[in-house]
Amino acid sequence: MSGLQAIRYTRGKLDVLDQLRLPHENHYDQVSTSEEAFDCIKSMRVRGAPAIAIVAALAHGVELHNGSCKASTSDEAIAYIDSRLDYLKESRPTAVDLTNAITHLKNTIRSVDVSGKDSSAARSAIVDAYIAAAEEIFRKDTETNLLIGEHGSKWLLENAPVKSADGKVSALTHCNTGSLATSGHGTALGIIRSLHTAGHLYHAFCTETRPYNQGSRLTAFELVYEKIPSTLITDSMAAALFATKKSEKHIAAVIVGADRVVRNGDTANKVGTYALAVLAKYHGIKFIVAAPTTSIDLQTVSGADIQIEERKPEELTQISGAVVGKDGKVDVHRSERVATAHQEIGVWNPAFDVTPAELIDAVVTERGVVVKVGRGQFDFKGIMPERW
Ligand code: MRU
Repeated sequence: MSGLQAIRYTRGKLDVLDQLRLPHENHYDQVSTSEEAFDCIKSMRVRGAPAIAIVAALAHGVELHNGSCKASTSDEAIAYIDSRLDYLKESRPTAVDLTNAITHLKNTIRSVDVSGKDSSAARSAIVDAYIAAAEEIFRKDTETNLLIGEHGSKWLLENAPVKSADGKVSALTHCNTGSLATSGHGTALGIIRSLHTAGHLYHAFCTETRPYNQGSRLTAFELVYEKIPSTLITDSMAAALFATKKSEKHIAAVIVGADRVVRNGDTANKVGTYALAVLAKYHGIKFIVAAPTTSIDLQTVSGADIQIEERKPEELTQISGAVVGKDGKVDVHRSERVATAHQEIGVWNPAFDVTPAELIDAVVTERGVVVKVGRGQFDFKGIMPERW
């Protein structure tokens, strides 16, 4: 298990690693209210579908623990918690984990038996049930990711179109789906981590992931931290890599995470994922989506109905990083923002794109691997836990 932790929590205290400062600086922000969580998520100091949901759920738990709920009846307590959760839901729209977590938390507080309790005891019971459920979401996430790692690595080893002479596979991943995007281990990067731990990984490639550079800032950081044999490429180098059928560059699979997998298997993930899926199909490379069942949205029929978040132009026209001195050394204490394009150019900045189910070979969940029958659609009903 990785020592990297995006989220540190003990009851009443939540600290979140500021990912905008990575890979140069490890700084944790204390997040104690819904407003602080909203800002932390919106500004992408924490990001990644599972981590967003966990931070929102726990932050409100901390707020409740600190006595923010002044309701005098159980109905008022439920209404108060609902309003905080509805507010948090607006922080980022595309990842469904947050919505699923909120639905689960709302159902949980409604299932508390308050009969025979006075109003103060009823309020405490609701608050306690909320906090326990939020903590359970956090705890379960790592367990889930370890299972995804196990199922995904087994499936890939059985279905890899190419292996090294000693039976290992090389894979490419996009964006960041590791310990930093989850409570630990990760989803797509978790599969790569599991392959490496079991001695089955030949080489990992990660894309830079423009414009936010989660690949170069975060995934590269995790791969180096874990001492996993790995190489960084720009997003535009993927086709050249896939055409290289030599040594560690002979890629068996693209493994990505998901912000939302809808009923037919269409998958929203970091922009650039769709292009990789098209390229993978052309080159006979397996395309794997690693997603906990909390990232699956059976209410939405197809990818056309997914709301894609659009972000500000400056993410394309400016970049920030630590200053590199004349001696070539990185000064982690000096960060600078620089312009990389004319500041008046029009910009389109969708944070995600939708990969059609047709291009996806397998969706790996904690409850098993789902594949299509022939060229048909995915059917997730059999693997969904009851609560969703
Ligand atoms: O905009 P981000 O950084 O929140 O986007 C993250 C991704 O697209 C991840 O690949 C996805 O959330 C899966 S995280 C395990």
